[in-house]
Amino acid sequence: MTERIEVRDAEVVFTRKGADPVTAIHGVDLEVEAGGFVSIVGPSGCGKTTLLRAIGGLQDLSSGSIAVGDQEVIGPQRSISFMFQQPTLLPWMTIEQNCLMPARLHHRLDEQYRRRVGALLERAGLGTFGTKYPKELSGGMQQRASIVRALGQDPEVLLLDEPFGALDAMTREQMNFDLHQMWARAGVTTLLITHSIPEAVLLGERVIVMSSRPGRIIDDIEIPFGRERSADVMNDPEFSRLTAHVRSHFAKDDETARVKERGQLVRD
Ligand SMILES: Nc1ncnc2c1ncn2[C@@H]1O[C@H](COP(=O)(O)OP(=O)(O)O)[C@@H](O)[C@H]1O
Ligand SMILES: [Mg+2]
Repeated sequence: MTERIEVRDAEVVFTRKGADPVTAIHGVDLEVEAGGFVSIVGPSGCGKTTLLRAIGGLQDLSSGSIAVGDQEVIGPQRSISFMFQQPTLLPWMTIEQNCLMPARLHHRLDEQYRRRVGALLERAGLGTFGTKYPKELSGGMQQRASIVRALGQDPEVLLLDEPFGALDAMTREQMNFDLHQMWARAGVTTLLITHSIPEAVLLGERVIVMSSRPGRIIDDIEIPFGRERSADVMNDPEFSRLTAHVRSHFAKDDETARVKERGQLVRD
């Protein structure tokens, strides 16, 4: 099963006693089709994580609405899996035990679940590592195990918050293709937040660009490379054109920031 995501006029304001309220996101409208893959980029602190947490039911909206399928999101849901920058594997459990953990928590560990995790570990190149402990695996392998744990839950929606930020460049590129392949096979609706513009373009069917805080969606770019992608995509002139287009949104922000630093007039 896979579901579409619909975000309508979403706003999140953080209030704290004695401090000014912080509007993290404002007026966010976003639709992601069932089984789609959408990348989200935006300056640091613009509300990307807040938006993702709201979609995952971990953060209440101040106004607006979010639906996954025809269900309004009002709290955490089992059909939504998260993955964060650090692989949050428990060090005292083996890789397989870690991947089975969500099912144990929800009292739904059965033979079918074990088989699915076994097949996913196999597919992720971790077939012989199920009995190893996280510290015995490289960073990239640990992240792959985290993806297996997330997909093992057979989620309708997969939410990824800068999952590869801590990896070296080569491992990261490999992980990009691994993730893309797992997504294409699982057909799960996926949202990926990333700092890397090439990663966003390489993986997304669309790239969403957010403004600085309060985060709004300022661009929504179709990426026309189809579902089957290889490293060749990066040699396509269209790839350079698309990354340059996404980057152009941030060049302006950087300039404003530099001018601010020098204490000069900030242009509008
Ligand atoms: N729980 C919170 N309480 C108060 N402010 C928060 C909280 N979470 C995030 N913020 C603020 O909201 C803004 C957006 O944060 P975040 O969504 O983490 O941005 P991003 O992921 O794009 O870097 C930031 O200014 C951050 O300080
Ligand atoms: Mg963040």
